[in-house]
Amino acid sequence: MPSNNASNGSPHTTKPAPTPSPLRASKFFQSNMRILVTGGAGFIGSHLVDKLMENEKNEVIVVDNYFTGSKDNLRKWIGHPRFELIRHDVTETLLVEVDQIYHLACPASPVFYKHNPVKTIKTNVMGTLNMLGLAKRVGARILLTSTSEVYGDPLVHPQPESYWGNVNPIGVRSCYDEGKRVAETLMFDYHRQHGIEIRIARIFNTYGPRMNIDDGRVVSNFIAQALRDEPLTVQAPGTQTRSFCYVSDMVDGLMRLMEGKHTGPINIGNPGEFTMLELAETVKEIVNPKVEIKMVENTPDDPRQRKPIISQANESLGWEPKVKLRDGLPHMVEDFRQRLGLPKN
Ligand SMILES: NC(=O)c1ccc[n+]([C@@H]2O[C@H](COP(=O)([O-])OP(=O)(O)OC[C@H]3O[C@@H](n4cnc5c(N)ncnc54)[C@H](O)[C@@H]3O)[C@@H](O)[C@H]2O)c1
Repeated sequence: MPSNNASNGSPHTTKPAPTPSPLRASKFFQSNMRILVTGGAGFIGSHLVDKLMENEKNEVIVVDNYFTGSKDNLRKWIGHPRFELIRHDVTETLLVEVDQIYHLACPASPVFYKHNPVKTIKTNVMGTLNMLGLAKRVGARILLTSTSEVYGDPLVHPQPESYWGNVNPIGVRSCYDEGKRVAETLMFDYHRQHGIEIRIARIFNTYGPRMNIDDGRVVSNFIAQALRDEPLTVQAPGTQTRSFCYVSDMVDGLMRLMEGKHTGPINIGNPGEFTMLELAETVKEIVNPKVEIKMVENTPDDPRQRKPIISQANESLGWEPKVKLRDGLPHMVEDFRQRLGLPKN
C-alpha cells in the first residue's frame, strides 16, 4: 500500500501557540468570539456563516472576492450588527483582529478553477500564506478546507487520511489539487515552526442549495439539466464513483473540527458511494422521469473512484453524516427551481 506514516513528521509542535488578544483574558471585557470566514459568500461558506451566526456570542467577518460566490448568499446577514462583509482577495494581505479563521476561499468547481489556473494556485498558496500570517499575528486558530482531490486518482480505495495520494503534478487539475497539497504543507510548517493552532478538513464532494447552477459539478449539472428537460450527460464510462455529503452535515463536521483538539487532516464526507449512472438515475426519478441519460466523453485526470474512510472523524469529533442523498436532493432541486424561475412541481 503506497501509504506510509513513517516519515510524515510529528504533527505536533513544541512551540507554544501565539498569544491571543489580551482582551480574551480580561475579566471585565465581555468579548464575543470573532470569526473570519474566507470565501464566506460561496456555497459551503455561506451555510457555515448561517450556522455561526445562530450563536449570539459569535461575530462573523466574511472576506470574499465574489469570483464564484455572491452577496445574495449572505443577504439575510448584511446590516446585522454581529456581521461584516469585506470585498477582499486573499492573495493580498489582510489585517483583522479575530480569534478563529475558517479558510475556505478558493474556487471548488473544475470549470472555475481551470478558468485561470495561475490565479487558482496563487489563491491556494499565497492566500493560505496570508491567512497563516494573520493567524500568527493575532494568535487565531485556523482551519483549512482541503479536499479529497489531494488523493488524486487514488490507488487505495476507500481513502484513509494516511494515504499520500496519486496526483499528476502537471495536469490541468494540478492548480487545484497540488495547490491544496501545498496549502496543507504550509499549515503544518506554520504549526511546527510557529506553534499556530491548525485544523485541516479534507472535504469530499458536497452538495446542497446555493451551489452555482451550471458550475460543471455533477450533482448541479444533473439537476439543472433535468429541470430544463435536457438530457443528463454522464461522462463515460459512468461507472466512476463519488460520495456526496449534504451541506448541513459538512458544516457540522467543520465546526466540530474547529472546536475539537485534533489538527487533522480529517476526511469529512459521506461514505455512501454512487456510480455516476446511479446518480443520474436517482435525479431522473426525483426530478424528471421523462428525461434521457446520455453518455459523453470524459475530462482528463477524472478520478475513477472516491470514497472517504471517516472513522477518524467519527472517533475524534463524534461526527457522521446524517442526511441521505434522497433526502438532501429535493432541497437542492427546490432551490434550483426558484433560481431558474421555474414553477413548483
Ligand atoms: N463543494 C465541494 O464539494 C468541495 C469539495 C472539496 C473541497 N471543497 C473546498 O471547500 C471550500 C469552499 O468550496 P465551495 O464549494 O463553497 O466553493 P465556492 O466556489 O462556492 O466558494 C468559494 C468562495 O471563495 C471565493 N474566492 C475564490 N477565490 C478567492 C480569492 N482569491 N479571494 C477571496 N475569495 C475567493 C469565491 O468567490 C467563493 O465565494 C473551497 O476551499 C473548496 O476547495 C469543496
